[in-house]
Amino acid sequence: MAVISRGLEGIIAAETRIGDVRGDVGQLIYCGYDINELAGKVSYEEIVHLLWHNRLPTQKELDALTTALRAERELPQGVIDWITSAPKTAAPIDIMRTAVSMLGCYPTVRHDLDMPESHAIAIKLVAQIGIVAAYFHRYRTGQDLPPIRKDLGEAAHFLWLMTGKEPGSEATQTLDVAYVLHAEHGFNASTFTSRVVASTLSDMYSAISAAIGALKGPLHGGANEGVIHMLQEIGSLDKVDAWIEEALAQKKKIMGIGHRVYKVLDPRAPHLKAMAIKLSEELGDAKWIQMSERIATIMKERKGLNANVDFYSATVYYSLGVPTDLFTPIFAISRMSGWTAHVLEQYGDNRLFRPLSEYAGAPVGKKVVPIAER
Ligand SMILES: CC(C)(COP(=O)(O)OP(=O)(O)OC[C@H]1O[C@@H](n2cnc3c(N)ncnc32)[C@H](O)[C@@H]1OP(=O)(O)O)[C@@H](O)C(=O)NCCC(=O)NCCS
Repeated sequence: MAVISRGLEGIIAAETRIGDVRGDVGQLIYCGYDINELAGKVSYEEIVHLLWHNRLPTQKELDALTTALRAERELPQGVIDWITSAPKTAAPIDIMRTAVSMLGCYPTVRHDLDMPESHAIAIKLVAQIGIVAAYFHRYRTGQDLPPIRKDLGEAAHFLWLMTGKEPGSEATQTLDVAYVLHAEHGFNASTFTSRVVASTLSDMYSAISAAIGALKGPLHGGANEGVIHMLQEIGSLDKVDAWIEEALAQKKKIMGIGHRVYKVLDPRAPHLKAMAIKLSEELGDAKWIQMSERIATIMKERKGLNANVDFYSATVYYSLGVPTDLFTPIFAISRMSGWTAHVLEQYGDNRLFRPLSEYAGAPVGKKVVPIAER
């Protein structure tokens, strides 16, 4: 009898030079760098270069990448027209998934003609994905679409487009670190999805729209939105214990807790927790972080489970004034660097993904009964 690994747990599906998730020791590596070494020291744009080229950029390389990203910010008018005529009730993550697919219908005008096409597409996707999310948010809330700017980095530009206000340096820095922390995470469900699609030699837009579809699920990137919904439903610190007890009794999953790979603390969580505490103090609204800490304590005591990346990122985004349904989109914006890096790597050394399944259906040998007699 063949051994089945449900959910491919414990299966090594391919080699990668991009990232490593060391679940037993709670370590996350990007191309040889521990995430604790990178967070707060390098910008998101440097991470994009690191993931695509396996090394941090020189200043000249960073300038070239920054210029290329900013040059690709304009969305095709057809995509803007669709974004601004889509149902206002649509989920922003669904708009992003669809917009990526639409972008694939427009020819790729290369910023640098020496660049391979898939790399040029990666630049476009990193440059444009945040604009899709921010523009849809502006449109659905009846606000104008701020003009594209070339003088702002990726995090600041998203804040500018979302709010229409000059982004503050602290908010920019916070979002930039959040982007760095969410950029890459090994063969998680969405990245693996992107590589499976790429392994058929389908195009990058198809691979990335599929990845966004995988990310939105509540067991993956959608968990950060679930955290805020949970905190809102609980309402206050004094109600946390009873709410969690009841949820556990009903065998409900507590959003933002637990992880398939990390069996100790998710190394991204302490960074986000520190940012969440700082922002909550600045806002003078400690309620959400206090509730979060209590939930984390109970879950550790009761189930031995730790908070994951989504648990505190929810409070960070909430404190930055980001609407709840833009949390997963922000995750997608930052993960675009990781997804595109993996798709490029897959193209570079491709082997079609084609696992087997264990047949558990009816015994073979059935005969077709005419439809009138069934
Ligand atoms: C991430 C996740 C899917 C990993 O799941 P997994 O490795 O498949 O773990 P399992 O679902 O097999 O859970 C193992 C045990 O822990 C429990 N558990 C895991 N996560 C839990 C959670 N968030 N809340 C309550 N119990 C949880 C399970 O009920 C199970 O308990 P049991 O053995 O008594 O039945 C899971 O922890 C989860 O659903 N978390 C909430 C969603 C989330 O935050 N996702 C973002 C991940 S970055």
